[in-house]
Amino acid sequence: MSFTCLKVEDRGAVGLVQLHRPEALNALNVTVMEELVTCLEQMDAREEIRVIVLAGDDRAFAAGADIKEMADAGHIEMLLRNNIARWDRVRRIGKPIIAAVSGFALGGGCELAMSCDLIVASETAQFGQPEINLGVIPGAGGTQRMTRAVGKSVAMDMILTGRMMSAHEALERGLVARVASKGTWLDEALHLASEIATKSPLALRVAKEAVLKAFETPLAEGLEYERRSFYMLFGSQDQVEGMKAFVEKRAAKFTGR
Ligand code: CAA
Repeated sequence: MSFTCLKVEDRGAVGLVQLHRPEALNALNVTVMEELVTCLEQMDAREEIRVIVLAGDDRAFAAGADIKEMADAGHIEMLLRNNIARWDRVRRIGKPIIAAVSGFALGGGCELAMSCDLIVASETAQFGQPEINLGVIPGAGGTQRMTRAVGKSVAMDMILTGRMMSAHEALERGLVARVASKGTWLDEALHLASEIATKSPLALRVAKEAVLKAFETPLAEGLEYERRSFYMLFGSQDQVEGMKAFVEKRAAKFTGR
């Protein structure tokens, strides 16, 4: 499938997906979201791709859901359109996804970045959930994921005022994993992705699932899940190779088997 609002390329074992609707600061209309989830699913299915980087451009990761597309919709129409259901497909991607954020990540843009597994931010990045200024609230996970990322008090501050959070504040609060300079943000995200791509794809998938479980299960259940997953990986060739390579003092070559 060719995409009208995405730029997609392989960088070795890293799949780079860039939102490309610059005239609207990459606002997430139905076309962008449908293309994005389709593209992510395609990358998830391709064995040669081990890690995905999702980016925007220098000015914006994404400035939110497309306000113009929903401004005239009523309650029942929004319910019937149920556009946000599409976002559940992002949650089901098994490979690690790094959000590379420069400029605005607002509303649905911030929610999309938080739906990824970790965020690398340019020093220019600005995160926010400004939906309160539109007379609504975040609808694609903002109240839940922001709260889990930065805690109740700061999440309330963000969501009740609609204020923006700088990249450095986001780093300090744990919303982002790394901050890069404005000229290198994408390269740094790709570099990190390439490093992760050298690991066992099986272990990456299981590690991602296990970390995400921490948000959804009580501790005892999460620990049990982790332990079973750890034992399960002893059925993989990658475990044999990883431990053998350690003993032989060489780099492991993981095959995902
Ligand atoms: N939807 C539709 N169009 C948008 C948009 C959005 N979310 N954000 C920006 N645009 C459009 C603008 O309308 C403008 O288009 P025109 O040139 O045709 O007028 C273009 O992008 C450039 O934007 P600005 O001229 O406004 O650029 P700026 O630099 O002056 O301001 C900004 C940048 C502060 C990000 C401002 O555009 C803004 O506040 N955008 C809206 C942010 C927002 O409220 N996001 C939340 C959306 S609701 C949501 O996401 C719900 C959810 O949880 C799923």
